[in-house]
Amino acid sequence: MIFLAKTKERFVCQQCGYESLSFLGRCPGCGSWNSLVAETVTLEGISRPAGLKAPPALLAGITDIAGERLVSSLSEWDRVLGGGLVPGSLILVGGAPGIGKSTLLLQVAHRLTARYGKILYVSGEESPGQVRLRAQRLGALTGEIYLLAETDVEAILAGIEGLGPVAVIVDSIQTMFLPAIQAAPGSVSQVRECAARFLRLAKDGGPAVILVGHVTKEGFLAGPRVLEHLVDTVLYLEGERYQAYRILRAAKNRFGSTNEIGIFEMVTGGLKEVANPSEMLLAERPAGVAGSSVVACLEGTRPLLLEIQALVSPTTFGNPRRLATGVDFNRALLLTAVLEKRAGLHLGGYDVYLNVAGGIAINEPAADLAICLAIASGLKDRPVEAETLVLGEVGLAGEVRAVSQIERRIEEAARLGFRRFLIPAGNKCRLIGRNDYEIYDVRSVVEALELGLTA
Ligand code: TYD
Ligand code: MG
Repeated sequence: MIFLAKTKERFVCQQCGYESLSFLGRCPGCGSWNSLVAETVTLEGISRPAGLKAPPALLAGITDIAGERLVSSLSEWDRVLGGGLVPGSLILVGGAPGIGKSTLLLQVAHRLTARYGKILYVSGEESPGQVRLRAQRLGALTGEIYLLAETDVEAILAGIEGLGPVAVIVDSIQTMFLPAIQAAPGSVSQVRECAARFLRLAKDGGPAVILVGHVTKEGFLAGPRVLEHLVDTVLYLEGERYQAYRILRAAKNRFGSTNEIGIFEMVTGGLKEVANPSEMLLAERPAGVAGSSVVACLEGTRPLLLEIQALVSPTTFGNPRRLATGVDFNRALLLTAVLEKRAGLHLGGYDVYLNVAGGIAINEPAADLAICLAIASGLKDRPVEAETLVLGEVGLAGEVRAVSQIERRIEEAARLGFRRFLIPAGNKCRLIGRNDYEIYDVRSVVEALELGLTA
């Protein structure tokens, strides 16, 4: 005879969700210390779906939902999602506390309700009065946004059934709980089970569900990380709390690209879309200063002009320091070595600090040549020629390799007044008929340094 345990006691890592039957000082899953916490789950209360809901269906016979995306016309939000919210999808919006998640989602709710009807906003953190105050500030009081100040997931699901909204916003998943689970709200068991309930709601022909998750600066407080596998789309809202710009980034997206970013500015009326991000990112660029170059990177479908800054100063003590913000550290070391060996720059006695202005991280090799030029310019104290855009991947032999979609990058730069372009020789053939631009095709880093730096 088999006895089934009615309760399950285990120790769960609050960082990564690793489960153990005994207490461990160090989590074998993620290596963090003292992160395992005892959690008890009563299995009785957790209902599991019984049997087959529908027979297997022919894939080609399933209704196409591509045209049914909920478009908010908050274009930065729509683009990051891949063209709008997919009905029946589960989305996680993560970000540090106070970054603007509630503000963004209330604005999205307001845009959606104007077109699609009922939206339910579940607030587990703020009182209805506080949410109203924010909505008033955002001018989002019109339309059919319903508010539910509740944290019991069973009650919320009952409320959703009665209302029938097209989308539900749950702010935040860390405050939600299922009475059947005897762990505190915000613990891994609670967060995971609550999210699983919302997943089932969304996938069974229910509304699109947007979950808000708090993420701390240091790492991940219980929740968001263990949810990433469960949800369709993970968006992160990033930025410095005391600076106005916010970047919405997709870390996972089953319905679109993960390279796409949306840029917003926090103003008194909420988050405002930044229509011309390149302009904004280059606005404060000092003119004629050594150690700065501009590159056009592709972030998803959109080219972005980014300024790469390099500070090269003599090492005063011990080993030379290398520091990179916004550029992959190992890539920066590699490019420094290429400059030493292939271009004969003596960087061994200098500290090199690299930075991408605007807090954006570059993850394409197309920025290699611009990084090299910024470092060389910083070392030689010779500024890069004015209004020059630098493109190209750099190989270990010091050769410059072709980059993708060069026309679109050049167009974006030309729109902002760039007329001089250093591009890989391999790309030349595809740019016939642009006589008004000064285009230099380069084969090697050495050639680029000769053409790109002022005398
Ligand atoms: P909030 O959306 O509450 O952050 P989160 O939900 O991520 O914790 O945003 C709070 C911050 O946004 C707060 O510091 C004030 C600022 N804010 C504005 O600057 N303008 C506005 O119109 C609103 C509503 C908020
Ligand atoms: Mg909030």
